[in-house]
Amino acid sequence: MAQIVVDDVYKLFGPRPHEALALARAGRSKDEILRRTGHTLAVAGVSLAIEKGEIFVIMGLSGSGKSTLLRCLNRLVEPTAGRILLDGEDVTALPPRALLQLRRERFAMVFQHFALLPHRTVLGNVEYGLEVRGVDARRRRQRALEALETVGLAQWADSYPGELSGGMRQRVGLARALATDADILLMDEAFSALDPLIRREMQDELLQLQAELQRTIVFITHDLSEALKLGDRIAIMRDGRVVQVDTPEGVLARPADDYVASFTEDVDRSKVFTARTVMRRPETVRESDGPRVALRKMEELQLSSVFVVDRERRLRGLVTADDALEAARRGERTLAAVVRRDVPTCSPETTLRDLIPVIARSPWPVAVVDERGRLVGLVARVQVLAGMAGEVAVNPPEGSGEPAQAHGRDDGASTAGGRSQSADGGAGQTREGGDVSVAGGDR
Ligand SMILES: Nc1ncnc2c1ncn2[C@@H]1O[C@H](COP(=O)(O)OP(=O)(O)OP(=O)(O)O)[C@@H](O)[C@H]1O
Ligand SMILES: [Mg+2]
Repeated sequence: MAQIVVDDVYKLFGPRPHEALALARAGRSKDEILRRTGHTLAVAGVSLAIEKGEIFVIMGLSGSGKSTLLRCLNRLVEPTAGRILLDGEDVTALPPRALLQLRRERFAMVFQHFALLPHRTVLGNVEYGLEVRGVDARRRRQRALEALETVGLAQWADSYPGELSGGMRQRVGLARALATDADILLMDEAFSALDPLIRREMQDELLQLQAELQRTIVFITHDLSEALKLGDRIAIMRDGRVVQVDTPEGVLARPADDYVASFTEDVDRSKVFTARTVMRRPETVRESDGPRVALRKMEELQLSSVFVVDRERRLRGLVTADDALEAARRGERTLAAVVRRDVPTCSPETTLRDLIPVIARSPWPVAVVDERGRLVGLVARVQVLAGMAGEVAVNPPEGSGEPAQAHGRDDGASTAGGRSQSADGGAGQTREGGDVSVAGGDR
């Protein structure tokens, strides 16, 4: 079940928003509504489901309604219409006291220019969020210290904000949010004021933290590369409406309209698309299979090689048609003697950019192997090239099915198979820098 459900939410700014609402519901544009009624349509019929533990990015041009939508989630901005559900509970129906409590316990916010209290130490600033929540002094201190440790600022605990760089101050803001134990972080352009190098560092840190903390993060940014790097999914807003919600690969592979496409045209797809994006389902044989079984399979499917797996589907190696034929001629009963162990492997998260040199060196397809050594897919040259050209049939995100059927040929003589992903997507993983290895020997 989604943790946060946004159900047909509207926000109009102006003295009589409910009168203008009818126009918004009738699909009138932001411009027209402003002209006719003097009301600003900031959020226009947005429906979303944000999953627990995902980083959900909201992107869009300035004024498209990102911050307003974010503030509607904990009702810092009161929606004009529609509902917000948190774990199934209707936040929009909560009376003031309950709302205040919910806001304190469940939500933490980090902004672009995080306002630190200048006369408090770094530690005091991090404690502040807990003080407001009425946490006692000892636990406050301990939690604040832990949070500072987490963001790498423990040794600055007794310094004052004025002594810190912009990046460090932003980190204190993050520590304050983390210290609260709130399970939902709302981050509005949290890294946008940082210079590029520090910004990338903070992004990496956030991803690392998130791997441990598994909070739900709603993250606003103007920056597509930041969105692609951080987002499990990305919502793109235009004039108050959400025009697309998709995985990073999905946004690149099938932009919903020209507006989205204009964001994505300059993106280097090889840094975003991963082995998971383009992989195909591999044909396999078992080591105990006879060479003739393997040969028949390869012949039927027009393959020049197949991967060999064990009972648990862990990768054992690869057999080529030539080798299988040779083994059959020698009268061997199993494939054991001809299994090549030094097949190239990568993780599902390996980016195409990191795959290119591996593919280039390898006469065979690359085996995509999960963290337990199980074969989950196959990537051949043609898939990498198609992915780079943006002509890829993007695989569904994890959990929603298997990759498309393998064609398996490593010479590029394939048909572009695959399925396209449903628009609502799922929490697909797209992280930079998976590991690529050329495996030697047994795994
Ligand atoms: N308090 C307010 N009163 C009136 N209009 C508002 C208010 N807050 C936002 N707006 C208007 O609502 C629309 C959406 O603003 P919002 O701040 O949500 O955009 P944004 O996508 O966050 O933009 P930015 O990227 O510049 O932060 C804009 O047209 C803005 O002028
Ligand atoms: Mg904003």
